[in-house]
Amino acid sequence: MKTDQKHPKAVIVIFGATGDLAKRKLYPSIHRLYKNGQIGEEFAVVGVGRRPWSNEDLRQTVKKSISAGGDKHTDDFTSHFYYHPFDVTNPSSYQELKVLLDQLELTYEIPNNRMFYLAMAPEFFGTIAKSLKSEGVTATTGWSRLVIEKPFGHDLPSAKELNKEIREAFTEDQIYRIDHYLGKQMVQNIEVIRFANAIFEPLWTNRYISNIQITSSEDLGVEDRARYYETSGALRDMVQNHILQMVALLAMEPPIKLNTEEIRSEKVKVLRALRPIAKEEVDQYFVRGQYQAGMIDGSPVPAYPEEQNVAPDSNTETFVSGKLLIDNFRWAGVPFYIRTGKRMKEKSTKIVVEFKEIPMNLYYGNEKQINPNLLVIHIQPDEGITLYLNAKKLGGAAHAQPIKLDYCSNCSDEMNTPEAYEKLIHDCLLGDATNFAHWDEVALSWSFVDSISETWASNKTLSPNYEAGSMGPKESDDLLSKDGFQWWNI
Ligand code: BG6
Repeated sequence: MKTDQKHPKAVIVIFGATGDLAKRKLYPSIHRLYKNGQIGEEFAVVGVGRRPWSNEDLRQTVKKSISAGGDKHTDDFTSHFYYHPFDVTNPSSYQELKVLLDQLELTYEIPNNRMFYLAMAPEFFGTIAKSLKSEGVTATTGWSRLVIEKPFGHDLPSAKELNKEIREAFTEDQIYRIDHYLGKQMVQNIEVIRFANAIFEPLWTNRYISNIQITSSEDLGVEDRARYYETSGALRDMVQNHILQMVALLAMEPPIKLNTEEIRSEKVKVLRALRPIAKEEVDQYFVRGQYQAGMIDGSPVPAYPEEQNVAPDSNTETFVSGKLLIDNFRWAGVPFYIRTGKRMKEKSTKIVVEFKEIPMNLYYGNEKQINPNLLVIHIQPDEGITLYLNAKKLGGAAHAQPIKLDYCSNCSDEMNTPEAYEKLIHDCLLGDATNFAHWDEVALSWSFVDSISETWASNKTLSPNYEAGSMGPKESDDLLSKDGFQWWNI
């Protein structure tokens, strides 16, 4: 819910200011907000990190990350950035931070509003949150908000523990748990496509939909993140958060209002209706994979166990596909198939909604069967929708052929879709938590995923089983074919 003024005034404190996320996503996003006039001059950014940097070091880093030269606009922008060397376990670091924030609020006429963005190693999340409170940094006359990057725990017990720690210092409505997929333009569009179109919503049930498929593939490998990824794997890295969030948006009931509480409450109901997977059933519903050596864009790439910092006998999955069932009136009997992985054929996220066959088929397609109607929601890199229909084939009286109705929202040159982080930082500054994950969603997602990861952890038999550059192991195709379906690689 929008609660603040249009041009929010705040100090943004970034823990992890020297890190990769800050450089790749946060600085460019804050810069775009500034350039587009979504934040005015009444803001400051305090970069916090262990390294003994100066303000100037931070400003140079920011300039580099926004690929800007030394023009006046860039200098004006970076002059709002301050660096504060920090030891997360030392109370005096927090006291000094408080003094700096008080000063900056006076300089920039900021009404004591503070955003604390934790973009660093998760083991310090709890300590930082608690110390911010105990040292009085969160005691403001304006607002104070905590933005937390993933991973939010490693399983349900660790997520609960972390939540308990941060809740000692912040109330639920002060906590903004980032799931950057919720900031993507086309993920936000799922609700609009569903609830603003009379032609879709009546069909959006088990009476007309045969199955829904979500694919989020990446061509990159584990890169330099193996230390984290080895303890995570694709299930925790992508399914527990991004994919289940998309499932919730696709399956939720229309909210009675478009506000944070109502939308969250409908999403939570979907996650509660997810059929839990018993440990002995995991193999029937989920497939895991690990990439072998292969070719990406014409160049050879190594197998996962040969990547830097990966154990040679690693059991970490780099690919997951699964079949989810939602036990409620609308979705009973409709499988939601999901798949995600590294070193797949391409970088692409899309959703395919496959409609059921018509009751009596008067026409035939190329291979006797007429093609099903499909609605494809392209999340990235293309952003748009495609509807596959059947139309008359030239000449053949009873012959139908598939045609495509395409809408691409980022195809025109003038269109510059905001980055996910840009939208999310702006939302947080405005006090709008709709596109952040509520604790209930996080907890339900972990409890769904935990039985799968526990089963996999107790069964150390994974070895590379899909070629880099492919769409995953054969078992992933079998998961659908045994139900009479196929992945639509379109
Ligand atoms: C992150 C995962 O949450 O999402 C990464 O940790 C993954 O492993 C990334 O690469 C994918 O995000 P996007 O926006 O590039 O699809």
